[in-house]
Amino acid sequence: MTNLSVNINKFATLRNARGGNNPDLLQTALDCERFGADGITVHPRPDERHIRYADVINLKPILSTEFNIEGYPQDSFVELVCRVHPTQVTLVPDKPGQLTSNAGWDTKENYDFLNDIVSHFNEAGIRTSIFVSTDTTMVEYAAKLGADRIELYTEPYATAYKSDPQAAVEPFVNAAKVARQCGIGVNAGHDLSLENLRFLIQAIPWIDEVSIGHALVCDALYLGLQETVRQYKDCL
Ligand code: PXP
Repeated sequence: MTNLSVNINKFATLRNARGGNNPDLLQTALDCERFGADGITVHPRPDERHIRYADVINLKPILSTEFNIEGYPQDSFVELVCRVHPTQVTLVPDKPGQLTSNAGWDTKENYDFLNDIVSHFNEAGIRTSIFVSTDTTMVEYAAKLGADRIELYTEPYATAYKSDPQAAVEPFVNAAKVARQCGIGVNAGHDLSLENLRFLIQAIPWIDEVSIGHALVCDALYLGLQETVRQYKDCL
């Protein structure tokens, strides 16, 4: 069964809008777990516009499910991850001011840089995942780096799903097969929703984990958080 990791960035964005502690991010994370999430994902950015580094530190001791920290591996991020020691770190090629992740790594071009970072986390005993597109060379190089998993960047799937679901999913099935042949796990994330999630999982049932934020929080406005998490779990 595929795990659901709830990305709680948007709850932090809402909290930060008024400067207080409403919604309480830690309580929201605990409630996601209580409602059935298998993990919590955070994406601290250097400008701390949503998740703050302090949030990451405060979340770790209270969570009872898998904790996934994603981000660009600049020094401050690497230090934070090593200090907090989450279940998983997902490396994303975001530039500091970027609105959201919009591409996977070129794992061939950045091989030496990523190799150092992945080795560092491997030595610390933290599971590593590398955000990539469906380009199979990128998947193969992620495996060569010694990463435990890839995370497939699913925005192109979500966009193309609306007109042709089968054509949309095919490159993802292919990339996930290559990952399996290389002996690494498969995560997926970005723009997954109640509309497109079930079809993806039916096509690639060996996906280990999906991390979902934006659509899930939007759905929660209408359905409530508990019912929303239940419906996402139902798709899995
Ligand atoms: N995976 C990665 C690497 C991301 O950067 C994000 C967005 O923070 C997500 C998954 C979740 O995407 P969404 O918010 O569209 O569900």
